[in-house]
Amino acid sequence: MKRIAMLGSGFIGRFYADSLQGQRSKDKIIMVYSRREEAAKKFADDYKCDHYTLDMEEAIAHVDVDVVCISLPNNLHEAAVMLCCKHKKAVITTKPLGRNAAEAKRMLLAVEEAGIFNGYLEDLVYTPKFLKAYESVKNGALGRILWAKSRETHPGPHSDWFWNIEQAGGGCILDLGCHCVEITRTFIGKDIKPIEVMCWADTQVKPIDAEDHAIGLIKYENGAIAQFEVSWTFRGGLDLRDEVMGTEGTIWINNFLRTGLEMFTTGKGADYVAEKAESNSGWLFPVGDEINDLGYNHMFAEMFNCMENGTAPRETFYDGYVVNAVLDAAYKSAKTKLWEPVQLEIWRGQEGLSKESHLVEYDAEHYLIKEEMTHYGAKKVIIKHKQTGKIEEKIIE
Ligand SMILES: NC(=O)c1ccc[n+]([C@@H]2O[C@H](COP(=O)([O-])OP(=O)(O)OC[C@H]3O[C@@H](n4cnc5c(N)ncnc54)[C@H](O)[C@@H]3O)[C@@H](O)[C@H]2O)c1
Repeated sequence: MKRIAMLGSGFIGRFYADSLQGQRSKDKIIMVYSRREEAAKKFADDYKCDHYTLDMEEAIAHVDVDVVCISLPNNLHEAAVMLCCKHKKAVITTKPLGRNAAEAKRMLLAVEEAGIFNGYLEDLVYTPKFLKAYESVKNGALGRILWAKSRETHPGPHSDWFWNIEQAGGGCILDLGCHCVEITRTFIGKDIKPIEVMCWADTQVKPIDAEDHAIGLIKYENGAIAQFEVSWTFRGGLDLRDEVMGTEGTIWINNFLRTGLEMFTTGKGADYVAEKAESNSGWLFPVGDEINDLGYNHMFAEMFNCMENGTAPRETFYDGYVVNAVLDAAYKSAKTKLWEPVQLEIWRGQEGLSKESHLVEYDAEHYLIKEEMTHYGAKKVIIKHKQTGKIEEKIIE
């Protein structure tokens, strides 16, 4: 059993608590830190925590606390991590790790120096649908991965600090793009280096300094490309979709809208439908079990198992740092309108890869371009002569 201090009692702190203490979990939140006494006390009552405090260091340093879970605004992650290092407490933190790669790098180096367990809570690479898709990708069901796309769009975040560029560190690129980068990076291969980013970003709707809509491309060293689409101005709920395309197959994932559960109601008795659903009447798309379907259960199970076994989880501060470095390049590209290199001062994956061969042999003289069964019953192959380059088609009887 691990005894947890929860830092922050807001939106994600409560989702995490529902997951950590849901089902028959043996782990327990014994301490909560929040800014306001009523919020801290309410959280402590709701989740039966032994202690609450308005002093962050007191929460972390408490002798009964084994693990600290950071659920605070982005500008407070670094200070909280440094206190965990000081008091040698295992730390797991929500996304994004830092407001930029410089902050993330400092946190990564500090936890490694302190020798403490560190986990990056990127729940969207632990959803049941993602895990199934990823297993298929790893087993080669899609062949060589060429393109991975992730989209997270919704009508905008739920607390004031997200809209303040100083506290949040950015707009939807940082807030939602961090998920998309890690999802697509995992499909392409976490040991494949992201090298360049091209990004369009704009503030189309909201009266804020940060971007409320962006689209980006991330080039990987092996020739694969990732794409992210993020928005705080999307109407219609929370759209969470991933697509992966490989030489042998395709995967489409829809995590939140049109997941197979569709309901019509005039609105009587339907208050909460799903995160950021904009309506509680008409045709609705409730989510079966948000805590599970968003990956929180699988994520915490893996994190805590690793903590007990003394192994690193799949998502560590290193991953959080790589994500921040990619997003820094996206911000730069949105300004310069150029492909910008990803500045990875720390890189632990493969180096110097080149684009893999894409040629398929047809026979000794030819490469295969395409084969197809036509509606008129003929099977065609289109081939290219290796020496002359001539392209021709043949009907196979
Ligand atoms: N799916 C996800 O992984 C996910 C979803 C939502 C939020 N988050 C992340 O969780 C973190 C917290 O976001 P949230 O949605 O829970 O925010 P929130 O506003 O709902 O809660 C923030 C909590 O931090 C506390 N806090 C302490 N000092 C504060 C300060 N100076 N200003 C504001 N709050 C302060 C508040 O009391 C509150 O309990 C952010 O880093 C965010 O990116 C992750």
